[in-house]
Amino acid sequence: MGGKKSDPANWRQSTRLVRGGTERSAFGETSEGLFLTSGYVYESAEEAEQAFKGEKQRYMYSRYANPTVTMFEKRLALLEGAETCVSTATGMAAVFAALASQLKAGDRVVSSRALFGSCLYIIAEQLPKFGIETVLVDGIDLEEWKAALSTETQCVFLETPSNPVLEIIDIQAVSDLAHEAGAKIIVDNVFATPILQRPLELGADIVMYSATKHIDGQGRTLGGAILTNDTDFIENDLTPFFRHTGPSLSPFNAWVMLKGLETLDIRVQRHCENAHAVAGFLSNRKEITRVNYPGNKDHPQHDLAMAQMGDGGTMVSFDIDGGKEAAFRFLNALGLIDIANNLGDAKSLATHPATTTHQRLSPEERADLNITEGLVRLSVGLEDAEDIKEDLDRALTALGK
Ligand SMILES: Cc1ncc(COP(=O)(O)O)c(C=O)c1O
Repeated sequence: MGGKKSDPANWRQSTRLVRGGTERSAFGETSEGLFLTSGYVYESAEEAEQAFKGEKQRYMYSRYANPTVTMFEKRLALLEGAETCVSTATGMAAVFAALASQLKAGDRVVSSRALFGSCLYIIAEQLPKFGIETVLVDGIDLEEWKAALSTETQCVFLETPSNPVLEIIDIQAVSDLAHEAGAKIIVDNVFATPILQRPLELGADIVMYSATKHIDGQGRTLGGAILTNDTDFIENDLTPFFRHTGPSLSPFNAWVMLKGLETLDIRVQRHCENAHAVAGFLSNRKEITRVNYPGNKDHPQHDLAMAQMGDGGTMVSFDIDGGKEAAFRFLNALGLIDIANNLGDAKSLATHPATTTHQRLSPEERADLNITEGLVRLSVGLEDAEDIKEDLDRALTALGK
C-alpha cells in the first residue's frame, strides 16, 4: 500500500474527525478495527518482562490501553488540539478521575455552583469526605471567583454553558484567576462540544467530556474523556490512578464513538441551526416567561457566548408559566419530542430538571440556580426544525392559555 503519507498535523477539522488516529491492521480494513480483546500475547517471557518493566511499549491489558480505544483517543486529541486524551467508561468517571487523581486531604477546590447534579455530588459531598475543602461560587460573577481564589487552591472546576439554565462562564478570566491561585482548571465541555469551544486555547489545563452526549450523538453508548497538555498531571497523577482504579472505556463503545466523531461537526452545526429556530419560536410564545439560549441576543452573556463558542449551542431551556403542573402537562402533550434526561442525541429530548436531573437539590438550592418548577430543558435534535416547532406549538397550545 504505497503512496506518501499525509501529515495529520496539517489536516483541517473535518478530515481530522474522519481519519484522525486511524491505525490499520495487517488486513487493511477501511473502517476502524474493533479489537474486542481484554489481553495480548507476548512472543516470549523476556518480552513480557520488558513490557512490565516499561522497557518496551506495547499493548499489555485493555484496562491500560486497547487499539480501538487508542484510535478514539487520538482522534479526539487531534480535534481538541491536546497532546493527550485518556478515555473513560462514562463522563462521570472522567470527572472523578480528573479530580481524585490529583487531590489529597487538605487540598482546596473552587467550583461553579451551576453543575450537572452528579458533578455537584462529587465536589460538594464526596471530596469533603476525603478531607478536601470545596467552595462553590456563582460562576458568572467574577468577583466571587476572585474572592474564592484569593486563597491558595489546587483545583478549579466549571461547566459552561451550565446545565440547565445555560449560563456562560468566562473561561479565560477564570483560568487567569485559577493560575494566580496556583490551581489547575478543569472545564466540563459537554454542553459546548469540542466543535464550538476549545477550553485549552482559553487557558484551561484539563478538558473533560461525557462522550455519551454529542460525541456518540445517537444515544447508544456511555463514555467519557479527559484531555490535556499537562504531561506532569498525566504521568504522575492520572496514569497511575487510571491504571489501578480501572475506569476504562470498552473497545466496543470506543468504536461506536469513533464513528460518531466522523459526523460530529455536521451534526453540531445542524443541532445549532435547529436550536436557533426553536429558541426564536419559543421567545414569541405567551405560555413562556423566559427562554435561555446563549444564541439569543437577549441572553445576559450573549456576547461572551459568541466570543467563546461562536454559536448558541444545541440546548435550549425555558420557563413555562404555571409551574410544575403546567410543565408536566406540556411534556405529556408532546407527540414527537421524547421525555428523556439524556442530551446531544439525534432525537429531540425534553426533561423537567427540578424533578429529574436536579431533584436531589433542596428547593432553596434550585431557586438559587434559577431552576424553577416550570423549567423545561430541551436537547434540540436533528429532525426537521419545522416538525420540532409544530410539536412544541401543539403542546403549548394544549395548555389553553
Ligand atoms: C455536563 C455533564 N457533565 C457530565 C455528565 C456525566 O456524563 P455520563 O452520563 O456519561 O457519566 C453529564 C451527563 O450525564 C453532563 O450533562
